[in-house]
Amino acid sequence: MKILKIASIPGDGIGREVVPAAIKVLEAIADVHGGLKFEFVEYPWSCEYYLEHGAMMPEDGLERLKEFDGIFLGAVGNPKIVPDHISLWGLLIKIRREFEQTINLRPAKMMNGIRSPLANPKDFDLIVIRENSEGEYSTVGGTIYQGEDEIAIQNAVFSRKATERAMRYAFDLASKRRSRVTSATKSNGIVYSMPFWDNVFKDVSKDYPDIQTDSQHIDALAAFFVTQPERFDVIVASNLFGDILTDIGAAVMGSIGIAPAANINVNGKYPSMFEPVHGSAPDIVGKGIANPIGQIWTAKMMLDHLGEEELGHQLLDVVEGVTGDGILTPDLGVRNTTKEVTEEIIHRLQAL
Ligand code: NAD
Ligand code: IPM
Ligand code: MN
Repeated sequence: MKILKIASIPGDGIGREVVPAAIKVLEAIADVHGGLKFEFVEYPWSCEYYLEHGAMMPEDGLERLKEFDGIFLGAVGNPKIVPDHISLWGLLIKIRREFEQTINLRPAKMMNGIRSPLANPKDFDLIVIRENSEGEYSTVGGTIYQGEDEIAIQNAVFSRKATERAMRYAFDLASKRRSRVTSATKSNGIVYSMPFWDNVFKDVSKDYPDIQTDSQHIDALAAFFVTQPERFDVIVASNLFGDILTDIGAAVMGSIGIAPAANINVNGKYPSMFEPVHGSAPDIVGKGIANPIGQIWTAKMMLDHLGEEELGHQLLDVVEGVTGDGILTPDLGVRNTTKEVTEEIIHRLQAL
């Protein structure tokens, strides 16, 4: 029996609705496999936990997470009770950084039965490699002066190591896909980091003569994501550009509620973390209508990462069977609940 030990952190808001749903799905798929078992340990780390303990996780939180095969996280953020930069940097971003989850994988594709908001969508299937450890998300900066002269300075940090690592990951992945990498740049407006980004892209691309490349400024690229998503295969982007692009990718798929993501530790020193693109959705929390598919597709990415690609493939097939039959939550224009969508997926898994 293969045992996978998973730390689950539902977090805040709808994270507490979609994580339990996806865990039920994972348990069902383990039964389909027969020789696989998940051992979940749940951690209540969240904004409420912060109010009680003065921190988003205990001091030895990372130490506890280290022993797991994977971390399955819902969403973090309840800005009504804890400012976002405190909750996010105390949990989600802390884990990404401390566990060297330097690559954020975020696929987007046309899903069976889900209507894209695009007028004439062509079949698209792309994946954004988001540099996940530095870039625009940096702690270098501060505020100077007071009052109306106050200035906030936020520096971006681009190291050759991290930039090259994200790019190599993109090229390696493209060589297993459609052999095309697009770089998201902005070297027309940003004078240090982005010309540097372009140079590293050029250098790395020399090692991959069979991969077609292009470079697009992020503003134009954002527009192309809407007008021609089918032209992309693998896109490599900095932390902030990748963040924004992947919400656009989610939107052109039909809803941010279905977009998955994986934070990958490439050196194998720490567990990777799996959490969907969306946040805690305070506007729909408690209504039972959160779309569980982003979290369930994220579970599929966790299966892939943990060597269970066949199961991952089966799971996504079942999900697309359900969406193809129009069993969808209100964000996709239908009125099924989180529970109904989840139960239908489980039911079909059990019938495999
Ligand atoms: P959000 O993704 O939570 O919500 C944006 C919109 O999408 C809302 O209308 C919401 O109802 C909808 N939505 C999101 N997920 C959905 C789902 N599964 N099903 C149906 N509809 C869904 O983004 P936001 O409103 O900018 O952020 C809310 C909070 O979440 C903030 O505290 C933010 O910082 C945090 N956040 C956390 C993460 C994360 O933990 N990975 C990601 C993004 C935002
Ligand atoms: C995401 C989120 C986070 C990010 C926020 C909540 C800090 O938007 O995972 O996409 O920007 O990385
Ligand atoms: Mn985001």
